[in-house]
Amino acid sequence: MDSNKRPDSMKRIENEQLANEFIEQQIAALKAQIGDKKVLLALSGGVDSSVVAALLIKAIGKQLVCVHVNHGLLRKGEPEQVIEVFKNQMNANLVYVDAVDRFLDKLAGVAEPEKKRKIIGAEFIRVFEEEARKLDDIKFLAQGTIYPDILESDGVKAHHNVGGLPEDLQFELVEPVKLLFKDEVRVVGKALGLPDNMVYRQPFPGPGLGVRCLGAITRDRLECVRESDAILREEFAKNGLEGKVWQYFTAIPDIKSVGIKGGKRTEGYPVIIRAVNTKDAMTATVENVPFVLLEHITDRITNEVEGVNRVLFDLTPKPSATIEWE
Ligand code: XMP
Repeated sequence: MDSNKRPDSMKRIENEQLANEFIEQQIAALKAQIGDKKVLLALSGGVDSSVVAALLIKAIGKQLVCVHVNHGLLRKGEPEQVIEVFKNQMNANLVYVDAVDRFLDKLAGVAEPEKKRKIIGAEFIRVFEEEARKLDDIKFLAQGTIYPDILESDGVKAHHNVGGLPEDLQFELVEPVKLLFKDEVRVVGKALGLPDNMVYRQPFPGPGLGVRCLGAITRDRLECVRESDAILREEFAKNGLEGKVWQYFTAIPDIKSVGIKGGKRTEGYPVIIRAVNTKDAMTATVENVPFVLLEHITDRITNEVEGVNRVLFDLTPKPSATIEWE
């Protein structure tokens, strides 16, 4: 039987009871596969890797080594949440790598979007490889591959960039959610006790805020995009839009315009709000965000985010635009 094919008899995991059955089966299967060996996992804090981590912690506890790489392009509060949930609450064996300076130094002056993506992907593998080399006796590599990854790309998880590890670090794979669809992974995550904002979170690209800080990334604009994104997310949550809108974020272009602060003319950056709905990310429509809410968010961003003096709302569907700005 092809282990990468979902059997026709497999029920859709759509409630807690079915999720608990799946969890019990997987724990037994993981224990049998892994025995007393060690497993390595790149834990981004996204839904898929978080569910895999929580499953493995239940099955093998500290034999799982989670590596969380903070590349400086994560959203506000994300690295802290990974540490809180996995280290403090679940008592995981978690290695936190502060690689912020390393990534930002490599990215300095690089404006071309695909080059930025390549640098982020390659540096991620390098950091992960260094961490893997510090550990003894790793036998397995766990990955958050899900069924759409298998259907779309021959089993290679495109945004799980640990696939590029060198030959001597080619561990045996552990992929406990590889036959599940995204909604099923979320039901399992909920049953495993992961927080709602982790389980139901909106898609976030692998290169993170790196593709939302347009052109060459600078630390000041990166902070502007991180802070404005945090305000947008907070206001969407308060106003019932979290979980309703498919993807929403801010982006910051590499231009300044004149504005007035404290009665003086000063130059500042604009930030762009994007809020879209889609089924498959191939096409997208713009969420009709209430104007009063947009005014309130504008007010908060221009007052609370140092260096930002304008807020724009992107009204463009996909096509002609893409969802991200680069
Ligand atoms: P676009 O901008 O192509 O985005 O309309 C479609 C979806 O893909 C996400 N996206 C990425 N995800 N690495 C990722 O893991 C990337 O380089 C990347 N670029 C875009 C985007 O956020 C949207 O959900």
